[in-house]
Amino acid sequence: DQDPRIHGIQTKIRVVPDFPREGIMFQDITTHCIEARGFIFGPPIALAIGAKFVPLRKPKKLPGEVIKEEYVLEYGSDCLEMHVGAVHSGERALVVDDLIATGGTLRAAMNLLERVGAEVVECACVIELPDLKGRERLNGKPLYVLVESH
Ligand code: PRP
Repeated sequence: DQDPRIHGIQTKIRVVPDFPREGIMFQDITTHCIEARGFIFGPPIALAIGAKFVPLRKPKKLPGEVIKEEYVLEYGSDCLEMHVGAVHSGERALVVDDLIATGGTLRAAMNLLERVGAEVVECACVIELPDLKGRERLNGKPLYVLVESH
């Protein structure tokens, strides 16, 4: 039997056709149109498991010295940055985002963490678009998702 909370989550996701480009069925987890949606979920998970939270951000948002990973997105290309010194060699990391589509974003996040010697233990998202096979780009790392959307 499915956890009734999953049904509750499913009913809260609004699909917006042709946003932000034609042909994209946007999985809207908020009616407030904020960006950086992964940051809604990372901090409470970090608090719950007693871990630190490290934001991986789009270019030119972090004030300190950064390392960068460019990646191809479902629509266009982008880049993620992480502060130098935020994560140390040998630390264990859980990568959290709102949604996995092509997997490019999670892959870039994993690359940043692995470049500084961290061990990516698992990735976790609220929504997976399994048809895009993003899971296959995670080098066999476990991916935990709450909801699949086709
Ligand atoms: C969306 C989503 C994921 C990413 C998933 O973010 O929030 O981070 O795309 O796509 P992928 O698996 O194909 O990489 P977006 O790049 O739109 O940025 P935002 O969160 O800043 O709006």
